[in-house]
Amino acid sequence: MQDTSSKPSMEAIASLCKRRGFIFQSSEIYGGINGFWDYGPLGAELKRNIREAWWRDMVQRRENVLGLDAAIIMHPRVWEASGHTTGFQDPMVDCKSCQKRFKADALCEEQGLKLLKTPVGYQLPEGVQCPNCGARNFTEVRAFNLMFETYVGPVKEDSARVYLRPETAQGIFVQFNNIVATGRVKIPFGIAQIGKAFRNEINPRNFTFRSREFEQMELEYFVRPGTTEHWHAYWVQERLRWYQSIGLPANSLQKYVYKPEELAHYASACADIMYDFPFGMQELEGIAARGDFDLRRHQEYSGKPMDYFDAETNERYIPHVVEPSAGVDRIALALICNAYREEWVPSAGVAGDILPAVTGQKPPDGYEIRTVLRFAPRIAPVKVAVFPLLKNKAELVNKARGVFEILQRWWPCFWDVAGAIGRRYRRQDEIGTPFCVTVDFETLEDDTVTIRNRDDMRQERIAIGQLPDKLHALLQ
Ligand code: GAP
Repeated sequence: MQDTSSKPSMEAIASLCKRRGFIFQSSEIYGGINGFWDYGPLGAELKRNIREAWWRDMVQRRENVLGLDAAIIMHPRVWEASGHTTGFQDPMVDCKSCQKRFKADALCEEQGLKLLKTPVGYQLPEGVQCPNCGARNFTEVRAFNLMFETYVGPVKEDSARVYLRPETAQGIFVQFNNIVATGRVKIPFGIAQIGKAFRNEINPRNFTFRSREFEQMELEYFVRPGTTEHWHAYWVQERLRWYQSIGLPANSLQKYVYKPEELAHYASACADIMYDFPFGMQELEGIAARGDFDLRRHQEYSGKPMDYFDAETNERYIPHVVEPSAGVDRIALALICNAYREEWVPSAGVAGDILPAVTGQKPPDGYEIRTVLRFAPRIAPVKVAVFPLLKNKAELVNKARGVFEILQRWWPCFWDVAGAIGRRYRRQDEIGTPFCVTVDFETLEDDTVTIRNRDDMRQERIAIGQLPDKLHALLQ
C-alpha cells in the first residue's frame, strides 16, 4: 500500500526541480536574485499544462466566459482607482542587531502574537524576537508599497512613473466596456486572463511559493446584484473540483472561509482554497465577492460609465463581481509536492509490491529505491517516452524512431537510447512520465511493443497500430 501521509522535504523537492530541469534560480551564475525563478524545459511544460487546463475549463468550455490578454503596464490612474497606490502595503520592520528585514504581521504570527494597529499605523507587541539572531530590538513598523515602479519614456520624472501590475484583475475591469460592446455577453458572464504579476515582497520564501514575479489566472465573473452569494458558492465548488481534476486529492485541499472582520471593506465574502504543502496549509487561490467596488471606482476615476443594461430585467446597473484568483506558480509547486514520492520497488525479475521508502533506511533485499513524480497524465510535462531496447541495433533504433515520430504528433514525447532499460525507466519516473514504450526484438517480428505504466510499473504488450488509441484513452 502507498503511504500518502508522509510529506517530502522542501530540500528534496528543490533538489529534484534543479536536477531534472523544472525550476532554476534566476540569474544563478551571478549568485541569483531573491524572489525570482526560471522554469527549465520540464517546468515550462508543466506550467503550460496548468494554464491550458485552466483556460480550457474556465474559458473554452464555458459559453459565457471570454478571454483577455491585457498589457502589464497600465495607466497609473488605474492603480489609484483600484486603491493599490495608497493601500497595497505590507508592514515592515528591521532587526537593529542583524539588519534582517521582516514582514511585521508574519513575524508576529509565527511567534503566536498579533501585530498591533495604532491610529497612525502599526506597532510590534511586547516580546517579539528576531528569528535570525534572537534580539528583541526592532525599528518602527513602516508601511511598504509592494508595487514595482518604472518610468515610461526617457525622463525619470513623477509624471512618467508607472507600475508593473501587481494583479491581472485590473486589466479586466478597465476593458469591461469594450468586452461588453464586442463580446455579445449576457449577465452572468466572465472575463478571464492569465498573465504575469509583480509584487516587491518583503520576504520571498518557501521556494517559489512567495515570489516577486509570478503568474496569475484570474476570472472576473459579473453577476446581477443580489445573486452574489449564489455565484460565490458556485465558484468555490467549481474551483475545488478543478484542483482535483488536475490531480490534487480532496484530502490535501481545504477551504478557508473569511470571518466578517477579516473581509476587505467592499467584500461580502471570501474563501481561500488551501493546499497542504510540506511547509503547512497555504493558499493556492482566493475567491472573493467584491461587489461593484472595482467598476464603480473606475467609473469615478475615469469619468466613463461602467454600467450594464440588463435586457431581461430592463434595468441599468453596475454588475457585482465574483473573482476566483489563482497563482500558476503555487499550483505548479503544489502539483510537484503532491506528486513526489520516494519508493522501494522490486528489482527487475523480482515479484513484490511497491513500498513507501523509509527515510534513512536501506531497501529490503531484492528492492531498489526510486524517486517518482506521480503527476496526473493531464499535467505531466512529458506524456510518453520511447526506447529502443538496444542502441547499437539499427533495426531496433529505426523501428523505435518510427513509433516515436507517430506519437510525437499528439504528445510531448521523450526519446532515450542511453543505458540499461531499467535506468531509462527510472529517469522517466523522476520526471513523472506516465508511460514508456519499448521496442524490442519481438517488435521486429510482430509489430508489437511494451507499454509500461509509471505508477504500478506493469508492462503490457500491444500492437503499434493500437498504440495511439490506447494512449489517447490513458492520457485523458
Ligand atoms: N486580484 C486578487 C488577487 O490578486 P491575491 O490573493 O493577492 O488576490 C491571488 O492573489 C493569487 O495569486 C494567490 O492566491 C496566489 O496563488 C497568487 N499570488 C499572490 N501573491 C503571490 C506571490 N508573491 N508569489 C506567488 N504567487 C502569488
